Amino acid sequence: MFARKIKDHIYWMGAVDWDRRLFDSLIPLPDGTTYNAYLVEGSEKTALLDTVDPPMAGILMAQLHKVPKIDFIVSHHAEQDHSGSIPRVLDRFPEAKVVSTPKAKTMLIDLLRIPESAFIPVADGETISLGDKTLKFIHAPWVHWPETMVTYLEEDRILFSCDLYGSHIATTDLLITDQGRVYEAAKRYFAEIMMPFRNVIAKNTEKLKTYDIQMIAPSHGPIYDRPSWIMEAYRDWAIGPPQNTVVLPFVSMHASTEQMVDHLVSALVENGVRVELFNLTVTDIGKLAMALIDAATLVVGTPTVLAGPHPLAAYCTFLANALRPKTRFLSIIGSYGWGGKTVETLAGMIPNLKVEILNPVLCKGLPSDSDFKALDEMAVAISRKHKEHNFA
Ligand code: FEO
Repeated sequence: MFARKIKDHIYWMGAVDWDRRLFDSLIPLPDGTTYNAYLVEGSEKTALLDTVDPPMAGILMAQLHKVPKIDFIVSHHAEQDHSGSIPRVLDRFPEAKVVSTPKAKTMLIDLLRIPESAFIPVADGETISLGDKTLKFIHAPWVHWPETMVTYLEEDRILFSCDLYGSHIATTDLLITDQGRVYEAAKRYFAEIMMPFRNVIAKNTEKLKTYDIQMIAPSHGPIYDRPSWIMEAYRDWAIGPPQNTVVLPFVSMHASTEQMVDHLVSALVENGVRVELFNLTVTDIGKLAMALIDAATLVVGTPTVLAGPHPLAAYCTFLANALRPKTRFLSIIGSYGWGGKTVETLAGMIPNLKVEILNPVLCKGLPSDSDFKALDEMAVAISRKHKEHNFA
């Protein structure tokens, strides 16, 4: 795609990656993604804000073909999907300086071997003038690496937010045309990328409230020309109260655990609790992560296999612990054949979760009437806990 004008002297550059289906060799990308770079031409100097993933560097270089001069390459984030083509841009514009946080400078030297002499490290709140346009750099650490910052273009009131507020959508839309689609993709993005840092992200986004932001230009997905809703959504996802929802990921080998899961789902619904159910043999982990943003309770359903939880249940529990959702209650259900340490193993895998563990229900073989009764009691206990905390 060619460069596209956003406003006078401000251009989208970058690449649309329609085919990418996995990020970090982990995160599903059902809708591909974009790597957005931006060119800001001031009356005296020109800045390129971020670059693209290295396999797509040729597209960016073609967009830059007729650009006579770049004075600054602003690197908001050292992760290679945005920084990886900086060496190519420096080859073409050797006089350009890389503007970054001091922490990003050290990381970019480590990751890309950019020479130290190429950098201009900037402090939080520092500005660089392009003539009639001013770039203000706002440090935003842990969004989602320790070195991250965002840029506020003062005269045009545009926030260049890099990963913050991003969405993995391959699209030809420069601005948002389908808010529902972007809401879903941005929420998925928050769950997978930002949720482990949600408290510090809430602090960083609070800091942005003092700026008059008319437009947010992220480095993935379309541009927000009415940005208030995504800023509100981030606040809610990060620190809003959890909801009256149970996330129930499960795996079953011979249908005993599945019978327990089915019964618990019905009992929870009867008690007025919403359930998000995920069969781990077919689950898109991005969907599971997204459900964890809001849920007050997590119940893991697993058979006991080789004396412990099924590996898929262990993977899911490990992931939930790493993502640090605001989940408040956790329990475990499942069937075993002769014994094992399923509960102890899973309970030992969640040191990051500040949860109250509710009585697990494990049964031997097929669930009996007393096991179903125990599941009914679990549903009542979860409903009561949610009501006590006014989770709606
Ligand atoms: Fe889009 Fe953290 O890179």
